[in-house]
Amino acid sequence: MVYVTRRAHFSASHRLYNPNFSDEQNEAIFDKCNNPNGHGHNYVVEVTVKGIPDRQTGYVIDLKELARLLDREVIDKVDHKHLNLDVDFLQGIIPTAENLAIAFWGLLQPHISSGELHSIKVYESENNFVEYLGEPVSLIRHGLLNNKGVAV
Ligand code: NI
Repeated sequence: MVYVTRRAHFSASHRLYNPNFSDEQNEAIFDKCNNPNGHGHNYVVEVTVKGIPDRQTGYVIDLKELARLLDREVIDKVDHKHLNLDVDFLQGIIPTAENLAIAFWGLLQPHISSGELHSIKVYESENNFVEYLGEPVSLIRHGLLNNKGVAV
């Protein structure tokens, strides 16, 4: 197997908040990421596809195609957005890097035309990242936030 990776960047704001917790619990658990009006991160996403290089092209997957797919299915939907408020597929989901990785898998996996999706990494900062390998986990949807970042 050969593992082929495409990296992309996006900038977005979010608020980590669980409407089932008190304000004090949200503050204690999510700290700076619980800021009521949100705050921004410069994210990096790395998508890895594994496979055997094609005998004629030598490619596992055409990286131009993987780049277009990542832009179309993920980056265009989240770049310069508020993840809690502006992104349909994240409605009600606490937008941690973990949950972003799971959600991005669901968007990309059906479109991988060659090779097999192996992993999605989401970097929320230089030193913190998560990696998802596609094992079954469910995304939990909580209540929605209104445009002031308050639970409705
Ligand atoms: Ni944050």
